[in-house]
Amino acid sequence: MKLAERMSRIGVESAFDVLVRARALEAQGRSVIHLEIGEPDFPTPPHVIAAAKQALDEGWTHYGPTQGLPELREAIAAHISRSRGVQVGPQHVSVVPGGKPIIFFPMIALLEPGDEVIYPNPGFPIYESMIRFLGAKPVPIPLEESRGFSFDLNLFRDRLNDRTKMVVLNSPQNPTGGVIPAQDLAAIAEMLRDRDVIVLSDEIYSEIYYGEPPVSIASFPGMLEKTIILDGFSKTYAMTGWRMGYGVMPEWLVDAVNKLMVNSNSCTASFTQRAGIAALQGPRDGVHAMVAEFRRRRDAIVVGLNQVPGFRCAMPGGAFYAFANVTGTGMSSKELADLLLYEAGVAGLNGGCFGEYGDGYIRFSYANSLPNLMEAVERIKKMSVRWEAALVR
Ligand SMILES: Cc1ncc(COP(=O)(O)O)c(C=O)c1O
Repeated sequence: MKLAERMSRIGVESAFDVLVRARALEAQGRSVIHLEIGEPDFPTPPHVIAAAKQALDEGWTHYGPTQGLPELREAIAAHISRSRGVQVGPQHVSVVPGGKPIIFFPMIALLEPGDEVIYPNPGFPIYESMIRFLGAKPVPIPLEESRGFSFDLNLFRDRLNDRTKMVVLNSPQNPTGGVIPAQDLAAIAEMLRDRDVIVLSDEIYSEIYYGEPPVSIASFPGMLEKTIILDGFSKTYAMTGWRMGYGVMPEWLVDAVNKLMVNSNSCTASFTQRAGIAALQGPRDGVHAMVAEFRRRRDAIVVGLNQVPGFRCAMPGGAFYAFANVTGTGMSSKELADLLLYEAGVAGLNGGCFGEYGDGYIRFSYANSLPNLMEAVERIKKMSVRWEAALVR
């Protein structure tokens, strides 16, 4: 049986492939330090787990409303209104199984063949995968290391045209850890305000930052009605396996997402949504402790990576990724990522997995303990004799 033609255009996420290869090495008895994974290595806060257990005991084990439990949507609307400085209500919220469906559903609902979508490159691979899958035209915009991995606003202006239907922004960003400065967002909002475009603002790392808090494009005048805010529980509360995320968007789009949800999932699991309320309304000390620990690790790994001959690593402002420029080694980032995995036992991700402008970089997730991060840096330093002769100075 032949698969539908559109399946030839859908992509995947390489992090999962590298994890499989790393696990295969471990099965042969090799030691691998996992810096390829995009999930916090912390437990879900205990009060959230307790709320889920209580919900199971109370019988929250049945279908719920497609759009999400009203109490959770209230809590999300209050959280987003407060944290983003906008006024939204539960009618603007769609609760879905993870952050990813807020890429999948709105893109299905909005994109037609020939529509153009501007998106960051390197970036989360699912954006480009879905744009291609739907027959729309991917318009990548390179992120610039020299601008803290923001993009060139003049280039952005040049890429905008009457076929631009959607602009994807992601701040704090995967894979670079970059945070888009407020003045850049103001300029982007200015360029988009009078256009018939929608912004998909991926804010899944909204609470994981180390300097200036990230700003949402939705907070600029005229932008709330043309923005989809993607956020969720996976990263902030270390809940990747619970599969719970949400989108905040204009009501006409909520209706479309509801239709796609009822055709696919019916609803998000009820007891996990009860736990989501506890996450949003309960103590935040677990989140603060996690971010403080990420900051310690970030500071240490960036110093360590900058000591590796041929590496250069900018200080990321958010998320939990260090995106090291490895062009100085004279090796391709793909070759180098393989060498590090197979010979040094350090699993990172070739930046090219995040799009062509990611070539020349390796993403190291610091969702691993400080001693493991330091051990990884030592292993990489030892391996550097292999490229020392080729060092590009
Ligand atoms: C930028 C970005 N957006 C969305 C997601 C998806 O999150 P979830 O696991 O909640 O679907 C991720 C996860 O890695 C991500 O890095």
